[in-house]
Amino acid sequence: MKIAVVGTGYVGLVTGTCLAEVGMEVTCIDIDVKKIENLKKGILPIYEPGLEEMVLRNTAQGRLHFSNDIESSIQDADVAFIAVGTPPGEDGSADLKYVLAVARSIGKYMNNYIVVVTKSTVPVGTAIKVKAAITEELALRNSYEEFDVASNPEFLKEGAAIEDFLKPDRIVVGVESPRAEEVMRRLYKPFLLNGHPIIFMDVPSAEMTKYAANSMLATKISFMNDIANLCEIMGADVNMVRRGIGSDPRIGNKFIYPGIGYGGSCFPKDVKALIKTASENGYSMQILKAVESVNENQKSVLFNKVMDHFGGDIAGKTFALWGLSFKPKTDDMREAPSLVIIEKLLAAGANVRAYDPVAMPEAKHSLGDTIVFAKDQHDALIDADALLIITEWPEFRTPNLKVLGKLMSDKVIFDGRNIYEAKEIQEAGFAYYCIGVKTNSHDVATV
Ligand code: UDX
Repeated sequence: MKIAVVGTGYVGLVTGTCLAEVGMEVTCIDIDVKKIENLKKGILPIYEPGLEEMVLRNTAQGRLHFSNDIESSIQDADVAFIAVGTPPGEDGSADLKYVLAVARSIGKYMNNYIVVVTKSTVPVGTAIKVKAAITEELALRNSYEEFDVASNPEFLKEGAAIEDFLKPDRIVVGVESPRAEEVMRRLYKPFLLNGHPIIFMDVPSAEMTKYAANSMLATKISFMNDIANLCEIMGADVNMVRRGIGSDPRIGNKFIYPGIGYGGSCFPKDVKALIKTASENGYSMQILKAVESVNENQKSVLFNKVMDHFGGDIAGKTFALWGLSFKPKTDDMREAPSLVIIEKLLAAGANVRAYDPVAMPEAKHSLGDTIVFAKDQHDALIDADALLIITEWPEFRTPNLKVLGKLMSDKVIFDGRNIYEAKEIQEAGFAYYCIGVKTNSHDVATV
């Protein structure tokens, strides 16, 4: 099959590369000339474990191509994926200008039956707009070529995207015709050898599935953060509560880890967009409004604990931060809780020394020289009054507490991800604060 993937961002690049990996002829297209030049040399715009090797291998074997030329890439393609950005507009709704511009180009250049698949997360009703844009372009050149639109939401997790694509839990495809269903079934056949399902449905339902999935996951997280805050007040331990409820298969033990709030490119944007879509159509998503507001509060919980420990004055103090990205194994800083915490620490007159295994170059874009970017995790600790765990990178999990004690000027740890055992840290002479457990006598819950 011949595939065109328009947009070489995170979703497009992973999709195109994984399709080439199973033997398809793929061209990834972008208007950004520099980006395509780099990709041809094997320089990727994002960090994703395993992706670079896969891009290099498939490029070398001649199955994966990069191009700025949408015209020739669309011609003869069986499937065209639209995987361009849908940035949130001022009002929180997804901006479709890039998606519709690609649709127009497809209408301009397609020369045989093609299935046009929206892969970007787009509001319910977008496929109709895509279809209209293509039809209009075809009409302008008096063409009667047939095409179908399909919606194929992605469920990739950053840091595990390749594994998620190659071995998906499920593939959801919204189609309008048996012909498009057949094409999509053929496309995804190599990825369904593990017996997991491809679920066909109508297009609006597929579009809604993506929002419903991410909103449900965001709801689980905010719910647990709310429970965590109450646990602190009531003297309960959220880690125990999590295990207690997670063993019920109806609840499940995934995505119920409390922390410093969800971030990233999907949850915040999608929750906002669904609230907005609903309100535009006269409905109020009460639960999601609460999910959003709990998440905003949660980003301040660790800072509030810092202020409480230091009696409300941290001017001139130095804080070591381990982790900056919104989660491990990615350099993505979008909506990262670290940004909120750093802003608050700086506003209160404190100094920040941060270390992240991969996200520091990305973080420098927004933070500039307002903080010190440390050489390694130990360098971040020099003369620090406290250590804050922001992202649960594996390398932060087993610290040498003796070394920490020597490097830091005060022995205090604020663990925003609950990665340590309170007893072990406290026995080494540290004050220890985490989320949802009252670990220190002067630790008060902050809601
Ligand atoms: C998410 C969805 O998981 C994925 O299916 C979708 O395609 C895109 O959005 P991603 O944003 O890569 O993926 O990250 P994910 O691993 O889901 O984590 C999202 C956020 O939730 C992170 O900030 C993480 O720290 C937080 N989180 C996750 C928690 O706070 N607690 C949890 O139990 C799980």
